[in-house]
Amino acid sequence: MPCISVASGKGGVGKSIICANLGVALSELGYSVALVDADIEGATLGLLLGYNLEDDATLHDYLSGNATEEEVLKSVSPMLNVVFGSVQLTALMKELNLERLERLTSWLKERHDLVLIDTPPGFEEDTFAAIKASDAVIIILNPDILSVTGALKVRIVAKREGKRILGVVVNKAGHEYDIPTEELEAFLEEEVLAVIKDDPLVRNSLLEGIPLVSSYPDSPASRGIKELAKRVMEKLTQDKSQVSGA
Ligand SMILES: Nc1ncnc2c1ncn2[C@@H]1O[C@H](COP(=O)(O)OP(=O)(O)OP(=O)(O)O)[C@@H](O)[C@H]1O
Ligand SMILES: [Mg+2]
Repeated sequence: MPCISVASGKGGVGKSIICANLGVALSELGYSVALVDADIEGATLGLLLGYNLEDDATLHDYLSGNATEEEVLKSVSPMLNVVFGSVQLTALMKELNLERLERLTSWLKERHDLVLIDTPPGFEEDTFAAIKASDAVIIILNPDILSVTGALKVRIVAKREGKRILGVVVNKAGHEYDIPTEELEAFLEEEVLAVIKDDPLVRNSLLEGIPLVSSYPDSPASRGIKELAKRVMEKLTQDKSQVSGA
């Protein structure tokens, strides 16, 4: 099964919330999932999943050649493993070899049904490394013109790298002046996989340090993320049956 990066170009659209909760939702469907926090300067998966990092080895240790794959992979629940990023400023001062990311995702793919990478905002070296290390990309956007331009750029970068775009996720939706989903699909020429509501319970879950889909499984955003999980698996299963000629 592939490695999928969750990207947006623009910051703050909800990549990390969706990546963390999609991982939990897929693990609850019975898939073994590995998450990688590749937001080198702004790792947040520890906070989102309520994992207390303490002295644990992180992606930064792996990229600087100071830890092995086994050492950085942490079990969050029986079906969910995570490679966290360091939240310490000193970790950024080490020399990081971003090319090692690809080796890590290959190793993770052999041991899980699916690997998801949370990517940084913007288009620096770390974003390119994350996209390069993945097979496919899910683009997150908000239904406004500011994030559509970021999504368009991610689409161009992913295509240039020969990566498949699995589809687009519209997050923080449900407002009067949202760009309609059909218009987003027509403009980006990509399928909208799910529409996730702007949901105040997202903030509650952050405060509690428990992923939204676990703490508020029936909230509007949780429902959208669970639909996304099913749609992602549908698309990947279709691919597999096409490859095997079934
Ligand atoms: N569906 C939603 N409803 C309400 N608030 C949301 C939703 N999704 C994300 N948020 C809020 O938006 C903010 C940014 O979310 P998040 O950190 O996941 O975005 P990001 O794209 O990963 O940001 P960055 O680019 O900085 O990594 C957070 O405060 C989060 O609570
Ligand atoms: Mg983020």
